[in-house]
Amino acid sequence: MCRRLIERKSSDERNDGLIDFGRFEVRRFRDQCEIEQQMSYQKLTTDNGPGPQFLMIPGPSPVADRVRVAMGRASIDFSSAEFVATADRLFDELKPIFNSADHVFLYGANGHGAWEAALSNCIGAGDSVLLPETGLFSEAWRHMARQLGADVKTIANDWRHGVDPAALEQALSEDWAGTIKAVLVVHTDTAAGLTSDIEAIRAAMDRVGHKALLMVDTIASLCTTSFKMTEWGVDVAIAASQKALGAPPGLSMCAISERALEHALDARLPSYYWSWSERMKSEHYKRFCGTAPEQLVFALEESIVMINEEGLDNVIARHTHLADVVKAAVEVWCEGGALEFNAVNPAERANSVTSIKTPEGFDAESIRDRLRSRYNVVIGGGLGQLRGSIFRIGHMGHINAPYVLGALGAIDVVLKELNLPVGDNAVVAACDVMASATT
Ligand SMILES: Cc1ncc(COP(=O)(O)O)c(C=O)c1O
Repeated sequence: MCRRLIERKSSDERNDGLIDFGRFEVRRFRDQCEIEQQMSYQKLTTDNGPGPQFLMIPGPSPVADRVRVAMGRASIDFSSAEFVATADRLFDELKPIFNSADHVFLYGANGHGAWEAALSNCIGAGDSVLLPETGLFSEAWRHMARQLGADVKTIANDWRHGVDPAALEQALSEDWAGTIKAVLVVHTDTAAGLTSDIEAIRAAMDRVGHKALLMVDTIASLCTTSFKMTEWGVDVAIAASQKALGAPPGLSMCAISERALEHALDARLPSYYWSWSERMKSEHYKRFCGTAPEQLVFALEESIVMINEEGLDNVIARHTHLADVVKAAVEVWCEGGALEFNAVNPAERANSVTSIKTPEGFDAESIRDRLRSRYNVVIGGGLGQLRGSIFRIGHMGHINAPYVLGALGAIDVVLKELNLPVGDNAVVAACDVMASATT
């Protein structure tokens, strides 16, 4: 089979030339994947017993076999027409995923890298930025901005509510001299399980006519929640490969508007590796500021092919639906009086992760430990000040209904094994929500 595929490849190469060759490679991986899927099944299991592990952490998310196979390619010449065409196609295909970016920059780095890239291109030493708190990730971004020399003004929050547009409007209206250069918002704060309303934030900025750039961390929201970069006037959107984009960790990106690029051209913090203007220079080599992370590029391209096959709106609808299924179970658990959604306002509960508070004095880590050791279900724990008082169910990436229902079933069992008072029939409630979408 593989030999036949390779022969097909060389005949296509002769007939169609190199530009189509990249597309053909993707088809070839898909075919190959069917074989490899059977061969590599054992690799999907862990030492914790038979059957696959249910990876329900809020990133990295489960990766499709097609994507893993794409990543398994041999290295090629990064200046070859084949690689240049693949990378160019990926840059183009990423723009509509953000609905819609003027430029996309891709880094061989995790999300922290893209955070730093955004700041170092747009902020000068001593510039003020406004950061409304949402949870541990806004906190970490704030810390980074401070380290880079920005004067960070924070809008405090209890990590249980999304950004309050009225508070943001008030803070901007007090900045009559226009010293605030950027507003930094985490769309979905993965630690808190909170999603903020970016459209309302933009409207608040517009009401006071403030000219600050709007930078949004979409690392845990992209492809799970509607995001309209152009329509909502977002200047910089930051994303990473390992969440709902469905690729392995290691690539992150800044999607930017023309306005953000103009800012960056005024040379902000001294930076070479992150610099957008460096990366726009004519040599293709510059686009990655050196050797391209080829295998990660192949993987991300395949995951974008999969997103486009399913359709971006359908991907978002799938995540919304699976989140509703999880929330239905959590609501029933909460009826027992011990557990609570961390996000107080139902409209702010994220589509990618659900954070659940446990009672005072109870160690939330015991839920995680037992799930992992007895049932091979891996969920997230509390981060920072929430450690031990929260558990988080990630529901994003390459997952489907039985995956989520299976994990919910195991969580239900563990909550009962640990004698936490929870409502009955949580999984039935989840199934009912699941069924409501298919009937
Ligand atoms: C919302 C959000 N922002 C930023 C980050 C940091 O990304 P990374 O861990 O890839 O550096 C994460 C990681 O989980 C995240 O969820």
